[in-house]
Amino acid sequence: MKRRSVLVVDDDRDILEVLTMRLDSIGYETVAVTNPERGLTLLGERPFDVALVDLRMEPIDGIAFTRAAHERQSRLPVLIMTAHGTIENAVHAIKDGASDFITKPFVGDEVARKLSRALLERRWARDRTLLRTVGETLAHSSVVDRLFEAIVARTLEATETERAILFLASDGSPVATATAGVSQTPEAPLVAAAETAMRERRPIVTSRSDERVILAAPLLVEGAAGGALVAENPSYVVPTEDDLVLLAIFAAQAAVALKNAHEQSRLRSGALAALGRVATQVAHELNNPLGGLKLYAHLVAERFRKASDEQGVELARKIDQAVTHLAELVTDITAYGRPPEVDRQPVALNALVEECIGLAQDRIAQHGVRLILELDPAVGTQQIDAREMRKALLNLVVNAVEAMPDGGTLGIRTRRAADLVTLVIEDSGCGMDDETRARMFDLFFTTKPNGTGLGMAITRSVVDRHDGRLSIDSTPGRGTRVTIELPAS
Ligand SMILES: Nc1ncnc2c1ncn2[C@@H]1O[C@H](COP(=O)(O)OP(=O)(O)OP(=O)(O)O)[C@@H](O)[C@H]1O
Ligand SMILES: [Mg+2]
Repeated sequence: MKRRSVLVVDDDRDILEVLTMRLDSIGYETVAVTNPERGLTLLGERPFDVALVDLRMEPIDGIAFTRAAHERQSRLPVLIMTAHGTIENAVHAIKDGASDFITKPFVGDEVARKLSRALLERRWARDRTLLRTVGETLAHSSVVDRLFEAIVARTLEATETERAILFLASDGSPVATATAGVSQTPEAPLVAAAETAMRERRPIVTSRSDERVILAAPLLVEGAAGGALVAENPSYVVPTEDDLVLLAIFAAQAAVALKNAHEQSRLRSGALAALGRVATQVAHELNNPLGGLKLYAHLVAERFRKASDEQGVELARKIDQAVTHLAELVTDITAYGRPPEVDRQPVALNALVEECIGLAQDRIAQHGVRLILELDPAVGTQQIDAREMRKALLNLVVNAVEAMPDGGTLGIRTRRAADLVTLVIEDSGCGMDDETRARMFDLFFTTKPNGTGLGMAITRSVVDRHDGRLSIDSTPGRGTRVTIELPAS
């Protein structure tokens, strides 16, 4: 480990000499000066881990020195050295920003103890500031899984512990949701600590003499423990009351974030449901006039045909096409409102995939996209609703192609494992940022000028109704991989 550096300032040369020897012998890198002004200059030039300063000095006394030192290094722990008679002044110094005092003459290992204590406190003080900023960002973040990873990563970084785990309550028991750091020791004691902290609803420390120190703080959401944040330390770290307070502060921030995330998703699904109902009503209202329009377009086309007006026929055909497109859209929206039961029939899944590619062929060619197709024959025939699944796959293929306006690679794979059929659609396109990823399944969420934002909502609904799982992997600028897992029939 790097040697900690101590700045010692005392106008008594004898004391300086004694101190330097002692500090050197216990492993500190010592810089000793008799002139406080010189000491301040040094603080302006290089960082120190801690300073040891005499109270009575000329022309700057220890209190003034501490203040000036903090202007240069705001978190530097300063220990004030004082003779017995002047303890009151030392207390004064502490109020003014010094972290502790040592009485002269020094007894036993007091200097060593107070120095290492000051160093430890410095660590936590620094961390508290870090944690506060982290907590604030977390409270505003909306992407839950990343949030938890960020929480443990920052806990680890801030507390310099070996391992941090965030547990979330599932049916009352803690389930490890995010982990940072490594440790050879088993997870069981950490789970037990999380359980205790959640049950007692207060931060706890468990330390087994043989090895590890475990700190656990509950995530209190509206009075109930929604989980726990657990940090594991090697045994030589002796946690103080402060350490627990710190972990509790962080857990509280995490709890706020958790609550916000819950609330947001509740709000969002409420808003979506309302939006869905309105959309369904509007769609319904549109249905009849659209049917009429289609009929008129047909009649107009007939007339033009009789009059041998080819241009007129072509125009009528375009009207008919546009109306058909609108009608399909309306069907999609109404269907989303009350999705039909899946009509499972034996379907050759690979053939269905090829059919979708055929339907998107024009766009694939237009965008200059290279297609890599790996279809596992073992996939065979599956009990699925071909119409619904076609809609879902086609949207994924089209999304992938649209993500690659300047060309790229589209990979489509099927695979059959024991009781699972997996379908992967992967593109090397623009990828998605956090917000798009979080909202892509929202009804009417789109980033495209002509998009409707229905595609992914429908796709997920189709996969859900087939008892499948849909997962997205996406990196901005690198591409997106969509994986569908279906139970094999
Ligand atoms: N493969 C992908 N790569 C990058 N972004 C994607 C990808 N798939 C979906 N997205 C993003 O998710 C958004 C929602 O997709 P969705 O399919 O629901 O709607 P859309 O494609 O915009 O419109 P449509 O209703 O016509 O499908 C897209 O606008 C896009 O920003
Ligand atoms: Mg789409």
